[in-house]
Amino acid sequence: MENNSKSENKKERNSFTGSLGFVLAAAGSAVGLGNIWRFPYCAAKDGGGLFLLVYLVFALTFGFTLLITEVALGRKTQQGPLTAYRELQPKWKWLGIFSFVVPFIIYPYYCVIGGWVIKYMFTYMIGKGSLAVQDGFFNSFISGSWQPILFTFLFAGACFYIVYKGVEDGIEKFSKILMPILAVIVIFISFYALFLKFTDSDGVTRTGLQGAKIYLIPNFKGLTFRGFLHICLDAIGQLFYSLSIAMGIMIAYGSYMKKEVNLEKSVNQIIAFDTGIAFLAGLMIIPTVFVFSDVDGLKTAGTSLIFVALPKIFNSLGIFGYILGALFFVMVLFAAITSAVSILEAITASYIDKYGWSRKKSVLILGAATFVVSIIVCLGYNVWVFKLKLPNGSVGQILDVLDYGANNVLMPLIGILTCILIGWVCKPQTILDEITLNGEKFNRAGLYKVMIKFIAPVLLFVILLTGLGIL
Ligand code: PHE
Repeated sequence: MENNSKSENKKERNSFTGSLGFVLAAAGSAVGLGNIWRFPYCAAKDGGGLFLLVYLVFALTFGFTLLITEVALGRKTQQGPLTAYRELQPKWKWLGIFSFVVPFIIYPYYCVIGGWVIKYMFTYMIGKGSLAVQDGFFNSFISGSWQPILFTFLFAGACFYIVYKGVEDGIEKFSKILMPILAVIVIFISFYALFLKFTDSDGVTRTGLQGAKIYLIPNFKGLTFRGFLHICLDAIGQLFYSLSIAMGIMIAYGSYMKKEVNLEKSVNQIIAFDTGIAFLAGLMIIPTVFVFSDVDGLKTAGTSLIFVALPKIFNSLGIFGYILGALFFVMVLFAAITSAVSILEAITASYIDKYGWSRKKSVLILGAATFVVSIIVCLGYNVWVFKLKLPNGSVGQILDVLDYGANNVLMPLIGILTCILIGWVCKPQTILDEITLNGEKFNRAGLYKVMIKFIAPVLLFVILLTGLGIL
């Protein structure tokens, strides 16, 4: 009976129409809030061009290894994350449960932040951008009783619709529209940022080009060995999050990839897209923040960068600032939606494959269940305010606690376990066979083996220890 339903499933399995659909959908997952609010911040903090170089090296080695492993795992097993590990190695089926739990934790709070983005986008679109800079606008909005829930609902509703429509008619179709628009907006704003100019009250004039220099030129001043190691760790951590690794997402997307598509080439393209957008986001944000608030302003990251610091800048640009603000939030919204869709798809695929549920039933039930958690996250800023000290030293709300648990603990752990499974239990050849299925030549096979067996697990272990506050 179980076999029966499984083979039926395989027959009906959705798939991307071709390599472009797959690459844009996977890039849609990878390009998200992390590219816009975290990458520029890391670059500004970690010596500009030096960080960029380090990041690039790790992207082509460490990031490439983990990403291609997950995509190949999905395509080989033709299963969502919950059952893919079981298919590969029955004794390791528990790892599937782990990688099902992570997206389930992340999705609800990602939707809450997506809701904030919609609120800001509307605020700019109706020409009320000046409100967004008033003291307390952000805090009073997120601690409101019904507005955050309403906007979260709008965001989650859009994701629900796309996943409900399926892989080809939903995810692929929307990614093919949203991702190119996003790329054009990023290019436009980053180009514009280079020509900004501002003279502050002390009579000091700063230009966008000066800001771009801070970003692009490697800064070795005062660099110690320990400092360099920190930069490496920041780059690896950022990369890991940015490529949507260890969340089961790339396994799910890989399972929809056609067997004739060139796996290595597609993975290279995803990395190029993700890194390219992160680089341009830096070129857009660092000069802008620098021009208006000097080097100190570059220390802002996370929600306060997008929802507090940038609105101030848009405001000082007059009427054009409103247009720029609206464009910016449209771009952030597209980045966030395609990422959130991939998380919802990962959990939906798991249910379809594990229980043989239909797509519609899975997405309805999971969409409703995660929305209940989203409401709890919203209430964390309202009736359930608390401050919890986390092992890495930061203090957080419900949203931060979920984020911490998933990103700092569970994801590195899943990454390490996947490396052990592939590197030592099943052996790297399992993945190499899938990569070269159509007789493709895989030049980085040697690098892949060393990475998956030795280097990647060690690096991930260091990230885990850092996240736990032990290092
Ligand atoms: N990769 C996304 C980014 O860079 C983050 C993400 C997290 C995507 C969780 C999907 C799920 O922002």
